[in-house]
Amino acid sequence: MKRAVRSYVLRQGRVTAAQERALAKLAPVYGIEYREARLDPREIFGRAAPLVLEIGSGMGETTARIAKQRPDTDFIAVEVHGPGVGSLLKLIEQEQLRNLRVIRHDALEVLEHMIPDASLAGIHLFFPDPWPKKRHHKRRLVQPAFAALAALKLAPGGFLHAATDWEDYAAQIGEVLSAAPDFERVARGAARPETKFELRGLKLGHKVHDFVFRRRS
Ligand SMILES: C[S@@+](CC[C@H](N)C(=O)[O-])C[C@H]1O[C@@H](n2cnc3c(N)ncnc32)[C@H](O)[C@@H]1O
Repeated sequence: MKRAVRSYVLRQGRVTAAQERALAKLAPVYGIEYREARLDPREIFGRAAPLVLEIGSGMGETTARIAKQRPDTDFIAVEVHGPGVGSLLKLIEQEQLRNLRVIRHDALEVLEHMIPDASLAGIHLFFPDPWPKKRHHKRRLVQPAFAALAALKLAPGGFLHAATDWEDYAAQIGEVLSAAPDFERVARGAARPETKFELRGLKLGHKVHDFVFRRRS
């Protein structure tokens, strides 16, 4: 998939000294370097277990909480924002989470190049950047090409769980995924702890929409 338009803008210079230390010390231990080559989850985690990829883990609190609650599942979080990656690396170390690793890179490129086809038990996309202005809608992650890529990487029966607190993005997510031939909507998936961005939305009086779609067998 060729992408001229990215779903994020990198804000520079906001990494604290503690986050910088965490990045330098912990990335070699709990990070996975981006490469244009398929990764081998069994080698990374030392076991065969269901694998969930999270796109845009933010500061990572929810990511770490979910990984702690589900020790039988392996998780790879993908985030471009340095402070968020540093913060999640620290949480992994603090909580000694053996089932969670982080990649600091564009999640779409990670999906396309590093994730083997039909290998994922799930994809988490919690509160993707809403890009509310119409001229920025092209930056939104959930587009037909994304749905096709996600379907390719999910194992049959795997879940795509997306959540947003933006009404018109919710409508877009519902439309795009409902139109994707490989997906069917299910009533609900695994329970999800509240995220940082969700709390921000709730404080603004936004309604939260969760979408769980299953990759058809
Ligand atoms: C609105 S925040 C939500 C963070 C978190 N999921 C939460 O709910 O608190 C969206 C995050 O997605 C990240 N992001 C956006 N596009 C991305 C991409 N293509 N690859 C990786 N991360 C991305 C941003 O850097 C940001 O941290």
